[in-house]
Order: sequence, then C-alpha cells, then structure tokens
Amino acid sequence: MTLTVNPASPAVPPTPPPVVLTVQNLTVVYEVERPVTAVKNVSLELARGEILGLAGESGCGKTTLAYAINRLHKPPASIASGEITFHDKADGDLNLLTLGAEQLRMFRWDKLSMVFQGAMNALNPVTTVRAQLEDVLTTHRPEMKKAERRELAASVLQLVGVDRSRLASYAHELSGGMRQRVMIAMALLLEPQVMIMDEPTTALDVVVQREILREIVRLRDELNFAVIFITHDLPLLLEISDRIAIMLAGEIVEIDTATNIYRNPQHPYTKKLLGSFPSLTGERGSFIRSGVNNSAELS
Ligand SMILES: Nc1ncnc2c1ncn2[C@@H]1O[C@H](COP(=O)(O)OP(=O)(O)O)[C@@H](O)[C@H]1O
Ligand SMILES: [Mg+2]
Repeated sequence: MTLTVNPASPAVPPTPPPVVLTVQNLTVVYEVERPVTAVKNVSLELARGEILGLAGESGCGKTTLAYAINRLHKPPASIASGEITFHDKADGDLNLLTLGAEQLRMFRWDKLSMVFQGAMNALNPVTTVRAQLEDVLTTHRPEMKKAERRELAASVLQLVGVDRSRLASYAHELSGGMRQRVMIAMALLLEPQVMIMDEPTTALDVVVQREILREIVRLRDELNFAVIFITHDLPLLLEISDRIAIMLAGEIVEIDTATNIYRNPQHPYTKKLLGSFPSLTGERGSFIRSGVNNSAELS
C-alpha cells in the first residue's frame, strides 16, 4: 500500500491571476423617497497592472461605483444586486460583498486603496506627514519595527516626488499638488494591487496635474498595480489609460482600448463625448506615454 503525500509546494511561486478585479451585474440604488438607481447592471474586469479609465459626465454614477467597489457606500446607498470579486495574488478569490467589518478593514489600503475626489483636503491638519504615513503602517504592519516604518514612509514619499524633508511638515505647509502626492503615497504605502482614483487631480492646475499623472503612469510601470482612474476629462484618459469605460446614466455603454475609443467609437454617447472636446477633433497634443502601448499609435 502506498501512502498519499501532499504535493510539495512548487519551487516557483504561482503566477498571480491575470485579472485582479471582477464586477458582475452591479446595481446600486439610493433608497430615497424616489429611489435613484445610480449604477445599473455594471460589469467590468480589471487586468493586473492595467490603467482603466472611467469617463462620463457629472452625476452618471462614477463615484457611486467606486465607493461600492470598496464597500464604502453608506445609506441611503445600497447594493441591490451583483457580485464584486477581488482575485488576490496571495489569498485567491475574495467575495467583497460578504467580507465582515474586520476583514474589510484589513482589505482596504492593503489590497485596494482609494484616492478620493478632494483627498488633498483629507490630511489631518494637526499631525505631521510622517505621523500619518507611519499610522497606516502601525495599523496594517504591526510587526514592522519603528526604524523600518520610518524608512518606508520616507522612501514612498520620495517615490511620489516629495522630498523626505517634508515628513516633518503639516498639511498647511504644503502646496495642493504636494498634498495630493502625499495622499498618493499613503495609497501606495502597502503596495496594493488596485488603486482607485476618483478625480484625483481635478482641483489642481494643469501643469501640476500633468506632472502627477506622469508620476502615476511611471509608478504603475514600476510597481504593476492596476488603476481605475475616474474623471470627466476624456482627453486626459486617452493619454494615460490602457482601456476606457464610458458611463452614461449609471450604465457602462462602451468599454474598449483607448485607441479604439478614440479611433473607432461605437456608442453614440462616446462619439458625442469625443466631439465635445475641441482638442480631440484637431491636432493631437503630445502624449504622456509617447512610444508606449496605444499612445504610440494615437500620436
Ligand atoms: N446621497 C444620495 N442620495 C440620493 N441620490 C444620490 C446621493 N448621492 C448621489 N446620488 C445620485 O446618484 C447619481 C450618481 O452620483 P455620483 O455617483 O456622485 O456621480 P458622478 O461621480 O459620476 O458625478 C446622481 O444622480 C446623484 O444625484
Ligand atoms: Mg464623482
């Protein structure tokens, strides 16, 4: 008789699943007197390392979708139906809709982080940048030694283009662009697999906005996290996204590569949206990622 032995763990770690997040038939309703279905039957897949742009006019449901994915929606918003699955590289599939409060707390920031609309005003005014970055590490990486926390906070800050001397600063001592970079550093600190950015640069002037976007693309190239980048600014999305989803009145009406959305839009609303930006119908501006992926074909 032979004994069955457990197979030895493979020498090479298994490759992580190519898709990191799947949203299936998600519907989110604001249960007010006249209920508003802000997200209608939305399905999408986010590939590992991909930048997915989400575009659509104000009020179409972008923020509601982002909050629901991170389970940050609050009453009167409720998820009426659908599934959200996170394909974790270590723990396999996580059904986000069934995570308990403690599991959610561990999940957020660690595996999926979010930079909110107006996040730069979310920094605590009475503690230093260092204290706020180290706080995230104390909570999520309790095993880390103080010196390691200090070093990691400083190096992530540098990664987003802020000098480590700024660790000692308070929010009011920083420009808007710098504050937003600090928020991005916080979102990157635990090396999440997905980062959702909801209009992260809208409040900034155009030059600072460009610099930060260039930084995000560079960091993605370096760290390979996936991004859902939300904005009403379609020209900007064409520059930085691998794929773009077009949202209209709660529905995703078209989702395709940035090149196809630009060159060969299918839905009438996508065509209308493209037509509403004069810069897109004339000469194309220079692209942030010139020579990379679809941008090369677009320019
Ligand atoms: N707390 C709320 N109660 C009722 N309706 C809401 C609430 N928040 C948002 N909505 C509605 O949900 C829709 C989508 O809003 P939102 O997700 O903020 O859109 P976007 O981010 O694309 O501008 C809008 O029609 C908005 O009026
Ligand atoms: Mg919004």
